[in-house]
Amino acid sequence: MKFFVDTADVAAIAELNDLGMVDGVTTNPSLILKSGRNILEVTKEICDLVSGPVSAEVVALQADEMIAEGRKLAAIAPNIAVKVPLTWDGLKACKVLSGEGFMVNVTLCFSANQALLAAKAGATFISPFVGRLDDINFDGLDLIADIRTIYDNYDFDTQILAASIRTVNHISDCAKIGADVITAPPAVIKSLASHVLTDKGMDQFMKDWAKTGQKIL
Ligand code: E4P
Repeated sequence: MKFFVDTADVAAIAELNDLGMVDGVTTNPSLILKSGRNILEVTKEICDLVSGPVSAEVVALQADEMIAEGRKLAAIAPNIAVKVPLTWDGLKACKVLSGEGFMVNVTLCFSANQALLAAKAGATFISPFVGRLDDINFDGLDLIADIRTIYDNYDFDTQILAASIRTVNHISDCAKIGADVITAPPAVIKSLASHVLTDKGMDQFMKDWAKTGQKIL
């Protein structure tokens, strides 16, 4: 399963990238706002740093404008995936932009039927939002499983990019279900390394080591 980092914070991406943990990056208008950066400048910096797909989201509501914005974003670097919303106009833009050879990430997916439409429109990635479904007492992971079944039934190439990931359990559950990619904030990816028994074990080893009076270096 590929790991995308869900942020426009270049320093946070660089830290994870140095460890080989970054297969791609996703951004959205809220993350651009949080970064305080210009979308074109920060997206270019991220693309220079990361070789995998970097999702940059259009903000127009009409297909024609989305297509124009998508072409401009795609011109930033060859590894841009143009992100379009799962609306009727977004699907039209997906069809045109994917037909022109650009990677397209269809975002804000909340149902299996929406995912089916995105695949038929040629999406490279579909982004079902796990956490936001959980927030309204639906099971976001059920959606990932349903999409996996449907895409496998018909051999769709569209990759399932599980988004709105909030917990480490979301990540292991998505891996078990067979999501192709997860995108998660840097803090969630880093917390995959944490375990209370690891901390407890380290504490004991350090105490015992101090008692030996030895040094390795
Ligand atoms: C990524 O593509 C999505 O925009 C993001 O994962 C949404 O996450 P959120 O629901 O935590 O804002």
